[in-house]
Amino acid sequence: MLDLSGRVAIITGAASGIGAATALAFADAGASLVLADYAPDGHDIAGVIETAAAKGVTAISQAVDVRRSEDVDALVSTALHRFGRLDIVLANAAIARKVAAAQLDDAAWSDLIDVDLTGVWRLFRAALGPMRAAGHGRLLATSSTVGNQESWTEHVHYSAAKAGVVGLVRSLAAEVGPDGITVNAIAPGIIETPQTLDAANSLGALGIGATAESQPIRRVGRPDDIANGFRYLASDEASFVTGQLLVIDGGRTLVR
Ligand SMILES: NC(=O)c1ccc[n+]([C@@H]2O[C@H](COP(=O)([O-])OP(=O)(O)OC[C@H]3O[C@@H](n4cnc5c(N)ncnc54)[C@H](O)[C@@H]3O)[C@@H](O)[C@H]2O)c1
Repeated sequence: MLDLSGRVAIITGAASGIGAATALAFADAGASLVLADYAPDGHDIAGVIETAAAKGVTAISQAVDVRRSEDVDALVSTALHRFGRLDIVLANAAIARKVAAAQLDDAAWSDLIDVDLTGVWRLFRAALGPMRAAGHGRLLATSSTVGNQESWTEHVHYSAAKAGVVGLVRSLAAEVGPDGITVNAIAPGIIETPQTLDAANSLGALGIGATAESQPIRRVGRPDDIANGFRYLASDEASFVTGQLLVIDGGRTLVR
């Protein structure tokens, strides 16, 4: 079940949080990995690679800024040269920035959209050619519950980007389904990662603690909760699932 042996996956934002957990879930499933992150210095991508190696899979890393098409195109080339195929991409890298609507100028808007929405498209676009040629592919992205069901004050640009990912996934899925490619996203609720622990731009540790009590499942999410969803969507068992947003939020959006 959910075996990814022989598959090759690219993950962006792989040095931390949900991306790192998904790298380990894919490694458990037997996939070879190309792990990408922005400025890996100070991040734990080496630790992820070491753990993947201990699980018996090959994982390599590449420094990639998803704001740069050259970097993203080179990432796909690396996967093809090193492993000879590309089966799965997870466009997961993103940033969250707290900016009041009154201060959300063009630069603040564009900087975030460039990473969180256009960054997803850059990776999907680069992967489409080889996947079409192979007649097989899994395009995956990390959206958010603020992209479809929730609001998040002082994060208008982030919410817009995450909603944009949902639209991108739906329309692309319809277009590339005949090529054997599925396209899906996950909408995480509140997951404890460096992003949410950043009190200046997100909930911080105190906010996370308060949130846990208000959710139907009385905890916030762990990166593994999302990684397991991506493992399913990447697998052969999900071959009839496309254009979907899988909400994994501990029931958070049921009570809002
Ligand atoms: N943590 C949550 O509660 C939550 C909820 C909903 C959605 N998400 C989404 O999950 C995904 C993963 O977030 P996380 O919580 O694990 O955060 P994280 O900050 O731990 O990980 C994000 C990673 O993306 C990388 N990154 C940022 N900008 C980049 C760029 N330009 N190029 C390459 N890499 C870049 C960072 O270096 C970091 O390693 C993001 O898309 C985030 O928006 C998270």
